[in-house]
Amino acid sequence: MTAADTRAEVRTADAATLRFPAGFRWGTATAAYQIEGAASEDGRTPSIWDTFSRTPGRVRNGDTGDIAADHYHRMREDVALMRELGVTDYRFSVAWPRVQPTGRGPALQKGLDFYRRLCDELREAGIRPVATLYHWDLPQELEDAGGWPRRETAERFAVYAGLTAEALGDRVATWTTLNEPWCAAFLGYGNGVHAPGRTSDADALRAAHHLNLAHGLAVDALRTALPAGTEVSLTLNLHVVRALTESAEDRDAARRIDAVANRIFLDPVFRGRLPEDLVRDTARVTDWSFVRDGDLAAVAAPIDSLGLNYYSPTVVAAGSSESPSPWAGAERHVRFLPAPGPRTAMDWPVDADGLYELLARLRDELPGVPLVITENGAAYEDYADPSGRVRDPERVAYLRGHLAAVRRAIEDGADVRGYFLWSLLDNFEWAYGYSKRFGIVHVDFASQRRTPKDSARWYADVIARGGLPAAP
Ligand code: FCB
Repeated sequence: MTAADTRAEVRTADAATLRFPAGFRWGTATAAYQIEGAASEDGRTPSIWDTFSRTPGRVRNGDTGDIAADHYHRMREDVALMRELGVTDYRFSVAWPRVQPTGRGPALQKGLDFYRRLCDELREAGIRPVATLYHWDLPQELEDAGGWPRRETAERFAVYAGLTAEALGDRVATWTTLNEPWCAAFLGYGNGVHAPGRTSDADALRAAHHLNLAHGLAVDALRTALPAGTEVSLTLNLHVVRALTESAEDRDAARRIDAVANRIFLDPVFRGRLPEDLVRDTARVTDWSFVRDGDLAAVAAPIDSLGLNYYSPTVVAAGSSESPSPWAGAERHVRFLPAPGPRTAMDWPVDADGLYELLARLRDELPGVPLVITENGAAYEDYADPSGRVRDPERVAYLRGHLAAVRRAIEDGADVRGYFLWSLLDNFEWAYGYSKRFGIVHVDFASQRRTPKDSARWYADVIARGGLPAAP
C-alpha cells in the first residue's frame, strides 16, 4: 500500500461517524439537591446537605442549595432544553425529604406531584425518565437518629423506595437505588468533606454496610411495587486504581484501595460476601459485628444493570498519608500520587484510558451484567463571551476522548448500554458550591438564564448521528 493509499483510507474514515450500537441510550444527568432549589417549599424538610451547607466553613463561599439552578420552578424549560439536545434518557434524583419529609410516615403528594409532572413532561418530549432514589440528601431527622451508621436508616430507605415506586412506577423507566455509596459513606462519615461531615473510620465502614443493605432491601421493595421487567440498578463510582510500579509493595497499596473503594460494594452486591482482605485490613477499626446473618444475601438481590460514574484514575504507591481520610485506615499504608496529564478545573486528571480499563475489568469480572455510564464529564472555567456564546473546547475534547474509550470498550466486548453526561446544567457542586461548572448548559445564577455551551451543540450532533464524528 502506498502512502497515498493510506492517506485516502484515513480520509474515508475521517468522513465517517464512529457509530455506537443501535438503541444506545444518550442521556444527561443531574441530582435533586444540586439543581432544584425550593429547599423549603411544598413541605420539603431539611436534608443533611441543607444543614451542612448552612454550617460556616463547610462549603466554599458559604453557598447552599436553597435556590441552586431553580429547577423546581424551571423544570419545563429544562426539559425543553433536553428535547433540543435530542437526548433519549434523563437521569435525575428524587429528593427523599421532598416526598417523605423527615424520612418517616406517609408520602407527601405535593412532592410526588413534582416528579410526576417531570416524568410526564419528559415522556411528552420522548425522553425516558431514569430516577435515582438517593443522591445524598438524607432527611436530617434520620441523621439525628444516627444516620447511615445506624441500621434503621437502611430499613427506612426501603420503605421510602417502596412508596416512591408505588407513586411513580408507571412513569419511571429505570430505577437506581443509590448514587455513589462510597461518597456517602467515606466522604460523609470518614473524612467529613461531605454531609453530614463526621470523621470516624468505624462509622464510615458501618455506613458502607448499611448503604449496601439499603440497596438490597430497596431492590426487594422496588420489585414488589413495580411491574415485572422494570429495570432496577445501582450506581457506583468505582475507582480505577493504578500502582505506581509493579513492586509487591505498590501493588499491595493498590489492592488495599481497591478493597475499600470498589470490592466493598462489588463483592456484597454481586457475590453476597465481604472481601476477606478488607475484613483483615480493617481489623483495627471494626470487627464487622454489625453485619447480621442474612444481610449479605439481602444485599445480593439481583439487579438488571450496573451504573458507573467515572471522572479520573487514582495512582498509589506504598507509603502513608494523612488522616482523617476516606480510606478507613488504608491511608497508613498508601501514598497517593498525582496522575500525569492535563487537568480539569477540579484539578482532576484527564485520562480516558481509565474509563476503558474500568469497562474492560467489569466485562471480565461481571459477565452478563449490562453496564451504563451514569456520569462522566468535566468542570472548566466557562464564561459567556461578549456575544453571549460559551466556548468550551476543553470539555468537548474531554467528552470526545471518553466517548471514544466507551466505544473501544464496546468493540472489545463490554456490554455498555448508555452514556449519561454529567451534567445538563451548571449546578451546586457539593463542597465546591457554585465555583465549579460541570454543565453543558451554562447557568447565570443571578438571572437563572440558561445558555447552551458549544459542548451542548457538539453533544446534540453526536446523538443525532448516533456516534462520534471520526474527525475531531
Ligand atoms: C459525582 C457526583 C455528582 C457530581 C459529580 C461531579 O461524584 O455523583 O453529583 O457532583 O461527581
